[in-house]
Amino acid sequence: MANQKTRLAAFCSGTGSNFQSLYNAINARDLPAEFALCLSNRSECGAISFAKQHGIPTLHLSEKQYDTHEQFAAAMLKALKEHDIEYILLAGYLKMVPEKVVTAYTCKILNIHPALLPKFGGPGMYGINVHKAVLESGEKKSGATVHYVDPEYDKGPVLLQRNVPVEPGDTPESLAARVLKCEHQLYPDALEILLTGKDT
Ligand code: GAR
Repeated sequence: MANQKTRLAAFCSGTGSNFQSLYNAINARDLPAEFALCLSNRSECGAISFAKQHGIPTLHLSEKQYDTHEQFAAAMLKALKEHDIEYILLAGYLKMVPEKVVTAYTCKILNIHPALLPKFGGPGMYGINVHKAVLESGEKKSGATVHYVDPEYDKGPVLLQRNVPVEPGDTPESLAARVLKCEHQLYPDALEILLTGKDT
């Protein structure tokens, strides 16, 4: 019997460089998984374009399309079920995942955050805001964190974390670039641990 591949969904809001690094790592490391869905709150973005180019089904799903939060959450769950999704990887998804979905996928949703959680997390802490806050605090190091998603924003158990230095003269943009480079290694490493139990 052929080995079943674990079916993954990527949730993205923007460029999707983390999604791309995960996709490339699955091929390069021959991981037993495949992206079966790319969901975005935006109709067009880098992540959606990449998915289309690689034959991955895409879905534009935004709360704005629904009258109630419950309808939105139900539509998300229905789509995940239709695509037979086992794990969700948040890759630059800048919206809260509805609690109903988080509960249905307990310990099956990962997020990557561009800082060393529990510091510099929580509402409003995304993208460049995170790096501005790190520089303003005078921290000597930053980094990236992959964690399980639970109903509390940026609070779920940490799966993997890696440091990068804050360099003299850093701007939010230069720090963001250093952290993003780290993320592109860290997220595939975390996925490999998740899928194979192998400590990379
Ligand atoms: C990444 O730096 C990711 O850690 C961050 O958004 C960026 C998305 O880049 N996510 C958050 O801030 C979530 N709180 P990408 O679209 O190129 O992967």
